[in-house]
Amino acid sequence: MDLPTNVRIHLCPRRKGELDRNEEQMKRTHHCGQLRGSDVGKLVSLIGWIDSIRDHGGILFIDLRDREGLTQVKANPNSDDSDFNATVHRLRDESVIEIKGVVEARDGDNANATLPTGEVEVEISEVVVHNISETPPFPIDDEKGERVNEDLRLTYRYLDLRRGKMRRMLKLRNETTKSIRNYMDERGFYDIETPTLFKSTPEGAREYLVPSRIQPGHFYALPQSPQQFKQMLMVSGVERYFQIARCYRDEDLRADRQMEFTQLDIELSFVDREEMYSIMEGLMRRVWKDTLGVEIPTPFPRMPFQEAMDRYGVDKPDTRFHLELSDFSETFASSSFKVFSATIKNGGVVKAFKAPTLANVTQGELKNLEEVAKSLGAKGLAFIKIEDGEWKSPIVKFFSDEEKAALQEKLDLEEGDIVFFAASEWEQACAILGRIRLECSELLKKRGKLEIPSDQFDFLWVVDFPLMTYEEEYGRYVASHHPFTAPVPEDSHLLDSDPKRVRGQHYDLVLNGVELGGGSIRIHQADLQKKIFENVLQIPADMVESRFGYMLEAFKYGAPPHGGIAFGLDRLVMILCGVSSIREVIAFPKTQKGQCLMTESPSPVSEKQLKELSIETTLLKKEQ
Ligand code: AMO
Ligand code: AMP
Repeated sequence: MDLPTNVRIHLCPRRKGELDRNEEQMKRTHHCGQLRGSDVGKLVSLIGWIDSIRDHGGILFIDLRDREGLTQVKANPNSDDSDFNATVHRLRDESVIEIKGVVEARDGDNANATLPTGEVEVEISEVVVHNISETPPFPIDDEKGERVNEDLRLTYRYLDLRRGKMRRMLKLRNETTKSIRNYMDERGFYDIETPTLFKSTPEGAREYLVPSRIQPGHFYALPQSPQQFKQMLMVSGVERYFQIARCYRDEDLRADRQMEFTQLDIELSFVDREEMYSIMEGLMRRVWKDTLGVEIPTPFPRMPFQEAMDRYGVDKPDTRFHLELSDFSETFASSSFKVFSATIKNGGVVKAFKAPTLANVTQGELKNLEEVAKSLGAKGLAFIKIEDGEWKSPIVKFFSDEEKAALQEKLDLEEGDIVFFAASEWEQACAILGRIRLECSELLKKRGKLEIPSDQFDFLWVVDFPLMTYEEEYGRYVASHHPFTAPVPEDSHLLDSDPKRVRGQHYDLVLNGVELGGGSIRIHQADLQKKIFENVLQIPADMVESRFGYMLEAFKYGAPPHGGIAFGLDRLVMILCGVSSIREVIAFPKTQKGQCLMTESPSPVSEKQLKELSIETTLLKKEQ
């Protein structure tokens, strides 16, 4: 189709003389969210997209949209002007036009109280058509857009980002980083970039490798975080560092996990945990104030890891609702219900929680809960419903009167309640019920029995994590967080004798059940770091040397005590925006399958490229 663009059309000859003076340029005088009643009578020019176009008996009403809002503009076509008619009849939604005209009042019923610019409209006297749009594959509309398939939205992300909700998200994300930068700058933090072509150090998540052309057979890795560089910056004497850093992890993707994501990464010298908490609480206060205008109360509560697991079954508890777990190991130690008593005899625990009013759970819902439990390794999900004054359950016949009395007393059971049990090794029992607790909260929300205000922000520091955990699969200890975390000084003497009892100086910041950030006070002594690598984590000495040798070397030359933290920026903005997936707050996210549908990556590459990199893929051979 031969579409006329960049056509300049005069609509109102009577004003032509006046306009001729400005003809060289129609530079915009206002954005589309700006005009108010006080602007009536002004000659203005606007530029933007046609949000909608309506023909009312020959008069065209166009909602003109730009980043900042909508303004109604009105064209009273001159029917003798064939240029105009030809062009205007091709104008469609999403075309880009520039207009000039006089602001007029919309009085009485014509005013639109729902629009900030609703008191006025602009009578077009001149229009330039920059681009006529084809019909977009989905409506650029907040509500309708929500129902569009996500893959389609991601294929045409540039159109999806035109929707008001997405524009507001981009704005809020920008306000968030601006607020962060201001706060950090005021406190003397330097913004320093660190490399994204890094060395492969396979601990933690799987890495993305980048082949080197110049050094055939050698690879860079994309960093999982700037961890090692920020520690080197402390050895360099930078004292206070931050960076809004891209990080890469080849993990299974979820609603709050992307392969490529952004951290607010922070490191300070001469800091202890208390100072860290207070600076980070100040940062959160500032961000919430600057972006949402909300005062966040500080200090944030703190909870040891053990307690978080015991009460909520997870190390990132959502404390906005209760449904807390209780331990019944003592009660059932010699129960005739063997599933429970045998578990306890083998060193496991029996835990339970009650979901009030949820005895009306449907068969389907119950089955689903059981599947969830089984996916976490449970053999089953025992339950008791309190219905019609009776305890209804396949297992209650095995319980003695004392056992029932103990349940009744601790859980304060009432008509309509349901109790769920997990009998397993401690961590697994916690994890199972922790997930069932979350599932139940969703069921309760669906039934209107649990309401969580959208402006409730429950921050919580989770502290006192074990420094390391024993990994059956490897037959050795692995760092719970990363191997640079310093032990809690009071526990250091247990490093050799009972490593699993050593707590790390690690802290996680949790918000509404989401792990927002985590960090630690670091080891800054070469000998302690070497000992952790070699004696405790049992990484062979040559591997320690090849992976971390430079760090151990650096710590010999006056390494200051230091510590830091990293926040998931995408998660932070997700919560500020009140959405439940970080894909909604990333301009160009990847799908669950790790694809960018807009640019169609990842994609095959030519054999020539592979050859240059000295790479052969087994896949190519198979296809040939
Ligand atoms: P950690 O691994 O806990 O710590 O990461 C810090 C925070 O980053 C966010 N995050 C993610 N966000 C989106 N997608 C992902 N795949 C993803 N993985 C992590 C989380 C998490 O809390 N170097 C240490 C920090 C330190 O010790 O200073 C680190 O990276 O919100
Ligand atoms: P069983 O005797 O194996 O048929 O189990 C009786 C009930 O206990 C069933 O409802 C199972 O789902 C449940 N159950 C079995 N093992 C466990 C366990 N480890 N924790 C909690 N419930 C269990």
